[in-house]
Amino acid sequence: MTISRLIIGLVFVVSVGTIGSACDNKEYFTREQLLDPETCKDCHPKHYSEWKASMHAYAADDPIFLAMNRRAQRETSGALGDFCVKCHAPMAILEGATTDGLNLDEVPQHLKGVTCYFCHTVSAVEGTHNNPLVLTGKNVMLGGLDDAIENEAHQTGYSVLHDRNSPESSSLCGSCHDIMTDDVHLERTFSEYKDSVFADQPFDQTCSNCHMSGVNDVIADVAGVKLRRRHSHAFPGVDTALIDWPGKAEQLALIEDELSNTVQSRICFNPATSEIDLSLTNVGAGHMFPSGSAQDRRAWVEIKATKDGALVLESGVIADGDRVDLAADPLLWVMADHGFNAAGEVEHMFWKITRIESELLPPSSTFDMTDPDFDHSVSRSYPTSGQPDRIDLVVRLRSVDLALIDDLIASGDLESKYRALIPTFDLEGSRLVWTAEAAGSDLCVP
Ligand code: HEC
Ligand code: HEC
Ligand code: HEC
Ligand code: HEC
Ligand code: HEC
Repeated sequence: MTISRLIIGLVFVVSVGTIGSACDNKEYFTREQLLDPETCKDCHPKHYSEWKASMHAYAADDPIFLAMNRRAQRETSGALGDFCVKCHAPMAILEGATTDGLNLDEVPQHLKGVTCYFCHTVSAVEGTHNNPLVLTGKNVMLGGLDDAIENEAHQTGYSVLHDRNSPESSSLCGSCHDIMTDDVHLERTFSEYKDSVFADQPFDQTCSNCHMSGVNDVIADVAGVKLRRRHSHAFPGVDTALIDWPGKAEQLALIEDELSNTVQSRICFNPATSEIDLSLTNVGAGHMFPSGSAQDRRAWVEIKATKDGALVLESGVIADGDRVDLAADPLLWVMADHGFNAAGEVEHMFWKITRIESELLPPSSTFDMTDPDFDHSVSRSYPTSGQPDRIDLVVRLRSVDLALIDDLIASGDLESKYRALIPTFDLEGSRLVWTAEAAGSDLCVP
């Protein structure tokens, strides 16, 4: 497989014009020291511990990543090259510690994952997908401050790409969160975002505005610092560490919290058709829900209706170890991307996917309540025999589709012990109980 090297789109280049604390004769830490996130820990302990628990730190230790990269290298006879590892361990590529990710167990830990040094030395974004980021090659830590105080470890500098309040900052995140293969636009978080209202003036809600919440705090544990906004580096999303990893419980709680604010639901009973009308709205995400590796994850609706204590409708009741694709459930509403290969068969291995069928919840495209697109909910109807007494609903999300896991276990690339560790989340904000008493005269809740 040859990965398209076509670069489209705007190029943002940082001018490191406002280097604070540039002092010619001063000796700062060496490049070798600054490459290692452990070095940052002494002065930025909270940034370090949040980052360490994040998927950015874990990206090249993930057994599923290692399994898929190994299989992809084998199945493409190495033509895959650095395609995967360039995003999952970019500093390991730049330092020449790996070319294909097959030796990641020998690569020093400080080069694995998306590291502090990588993000904080980006100088330009030369495209829109497949990690087109260029580094300064200098030991100046770029951020959103133009008045950082002097410190003994590193110089600092302001950069629009790192300022969460500047629209350009979304391209630093987005161009790594968007994947194109020769055949498909596989992961589309950045392009979905650009089509949403959040990328429009005057809203300008950047990736980091949503994904890096701030608190009043010092940003370095050294003498003389003042109170500032400290921004979270935990980046909770969907994925969780499947191996021993620092901060697992904290990260899981952040993910559950983040997910619970993402989807809202509404249930109506329609006496004319005797159907339950369900609508779901993506209220929180600045892109589709789910997004990114939507081909590898599965969200679905679990709904149960009863009358006089007897079940009259049930869909999406899938036990934690059971596969979504094997559910004998014609009414099942799945929100995901479905991949197919050149022969038209279902395909989980993304280097062989040539076509995607997408069923996702779109983000807002307007905040104008008079615009017909204001309502961006997606609806489905479920047939019943007469008005139920009670309807229970929740949207569930499995971080990795068990069909993909089984495929990797069958090819001998993944140990079977990981299967039981894949989490399935309940999106608490989507949970509803419908009863005739709770419903208004329109028979809707809420
Ligand atoms: C010896 C202590 C020390 C070490 C070690 C250290 N820093 Fe800093 N860093 C500071 C201080 C002090 C500031 C400025 C704080 C302020 O002005 O409130 C700072 C500021 C920053 C900023 C903000 C720059 C800006 O202009 O917005 C970034 C980003 C940063 N550091 C990243 C790192 C990274 C990454 C590492 C590890 C490679 C690291 N630091 C290691 C002390 C340190
Ligand atoms: C070098 C490429 C790269 C850059 C730059 C980057 N990311 Fe990531 N991001 C990744 C990878 C790789 C993962 C983890 C993959 C995994 O789940 O194992 C990830 C994970 C995440 C997750 C968690 C996803 C999940 O499903 O659990 C979020 C949220 C996220 N990034 C947001 C951001 C934001 C916001 C920025 C910009 C400040 C950013 N990323 C910059 C590559 C990148
Ligand atoms: C995925 C990219 C990414 C990674 C990885 C990353 N940072 Fe940041 N960091 C940012 C962004 C974006 C900001 C926000 C700057 C702003 O808007 O002011 C930031 C801000 C900071 C700041 C300034 C204070 C603040 O909270 O805004 C410090 C200090 C910092 N990071 C240190 C670190 C350290 C230490 C690590 C590794 C342990 C790290 N960063 C890893 C993207 C990253
Ligand atoms: C308006 C707020 C908002 C904006 C803007 C936004 N996101 Fe998100 N993002 C969310 C919410 C809410 C979720 C869903 C919660 C979750 O997955 O835990 C999410 C989820 C994600 C995930 C996890 C994948 C998934 O299936 O949901 C990634 C990765 C991500 N965002 C990256 C980005 C990047 C990159 C950008 C900018 C190009 C961005 N986000 C812009 C709010 C936002
Ligand atoms: C352009 C950067 C980029 C490239 C190229 C890339 N990834 Fe990722 N990968 C990401 C990001 C970003 C995420 C997190 C996405 C999200 O949560 O929505 C991710 C998530 C993952 C995950 C965890 C979630 C899941 O889907 O199970 C695995 C495994 C993974 N990638 C494997 C691979 C493999 C194997 C390749 C090469 C065939 C690859 N990636 C190529 C950026 C990249």
